Amino acid sequence: MKQKRQLSIGLSLTATWKKGDNEKQQKDTGEGDDLDPFSNDLFVKLAKMAERAKLDFVFKPDALFLQANGQGHSSRFASLDPTLMLTSIARETERIGLVTTVSTSFNPPYIVARQLQSLHWLSQGRAGWNIVTSLGGSENFTSEPMPSSEERYEKAIEFTGIVCKLWASYPYDALRAGGAASEGNADRRIEAIHHSGKYFHVEGPLNLPAHPSGTPPLFQAGASDSGRNFAALVADAIFASIPDMASGIELREDLRKRAVAHGRSPDAVRVLPGLYFFLADTRSEAQEMFEKAHAHLTPERRRASVRSILGLDLEGLSPDQQVTADMLPDASEPVRSRTHADLLRKYIVNRQPTVGELLSRPEVVNSAHWVAVGTVEDVMQEMITWFEAGAMDGVIALPGGSLHSLELFLEELVPRLAEQGLFRSEYTGKTLREHLRIESAEGERHFSKFT
Ligand SMILES: Cc1cc2nc3c(=O)[nH]c(=O)nc-3n(C[C@H](O)[C@H](O)[C@H](O)COP(=O)(O)O)c2cc1C
Repeated sequence: MKQKRQLSIGLSLTATWKKGDNEKQQKDTGEGDDLDPFSNDLFVKLAKMAERAKLDFVFKPDALFLQANGQGHSSRFASLDPTLMLTSIARETERIGLVTTVSTSFNPPYIVARQLQSLHWLSQGRAGWNIVTSLGGSENFTSEPMPSSEERYEKAIEFTGIVCKLWASYPYDALRAGGAASEGNADRRIEAIHHSGKYFHVEGPLNLPAHPSGTPPLFQAGASDSGRNFAALVADAIFASIPDMASGIELREDLRKRAVAHGRSPDAVRVLPGLYFFLADTRSEAQEMFEKAHAHLTPERRRASVRSILGLDLEGLSPDQQVTADMLPDASEPVRSRTHADLLRKYIVNRQPTVGELLSRPEVVNSAHWVAVGTVEDVMQEMITWFEAGAMDGVIALPGGSLHSLELFLEELVPRLAEQGLFRSEYTGKTLREHLRIESAEGERHFSKFT
């Protein structure tokens, strides 16, 4: 009998519940966490909570620059190095996957291959790599301006190919066979990769053997045309910004087609939108938390957000004035994230919203993430609707409003999904690859033709 399709669920380890006025209220009432955000206690606590709920993984986004005046709480862009942080969580947990974010735009691939394989060994097969090409930060590495999205993806393909070849360059069997290269035993040999490409020269082999459970699963974030192509080529999952169900259906169908065009299964790339949820015991409490999380976003800040995403200036327009397609800047103008710019463009072209409507959209105030506000029952039903409509294969949980909102998600909502057969009630595997139900053939990637 065919098993019922199940959700994949991860938890973001960014303190998203502290945005806006909620943090102040949590401090005043003593209900917030009083743990130092740069000690590991808070994140270990969250990872253990997520493991008790049998989640697939915890996940840490990352940036390589400090955005001192970022929207929301001041520590949003200040964070521990995600791979180091997850390594210390590995010691404190047993089953949950650990997905770190590492940019392909500013790191050497040999170092990255070794760090990820190290996390994989130290966690016994639980590491995952969220591959990003970065939204900024080039000033911290070079005097050159930020490369275009297309160029960053070209480099990302070469980079990821090298990392995968390095992982394959020292097979686990070779370790078992005694470590040394031996003539006449070709499939046990440790081999150099001799890579010489447009961006990198790497001789190899890696100085660390592969883990016997297979390579770390690959995640990707970015859904422009180049981003989708990259995801369809290499990724096991995509962390997606999906503001509404129709956008999810479009992205998932497109990725399924692109995966098949690359000779992969249509199910190869799991679509995991960020789910920014405000859960409370009553709808009105949930709505209140949602409003507090957005209260600091004045109209000026929202207009600045539209300017930064799209290059569109709404200065001087009244809230009830309509925004139409002819007001949009040329689509070929460079933008920070093509994904976010395209989502907002599409909304304007399809809906011709008023300025007021536009300024309250998730694309403008919440990095285009799906926002769900209500009781456990409300948000669970919304998740089931999206899942059954084919708008996603799971979610990355971004808790909003309070830690209680996260507790309700992990301790009530997730178990109820499990009761309905839509999520596991116990771990059946030990590795992230097993949690995500990745077919073993998908682990064998053939990058040589792309690099
Ligand atoms: C949902 C989402 C999450 C992202 N997370 C990160 C991140 O944690 N760190 C980072 O440097 N870039 C992140 N990015 C940026 C992407 O890796 C990429 O550089 C950017 O979106 C440009 O790609 P695009 O042209 O496909 O939009 C994220 C993008 C999206 C859409």
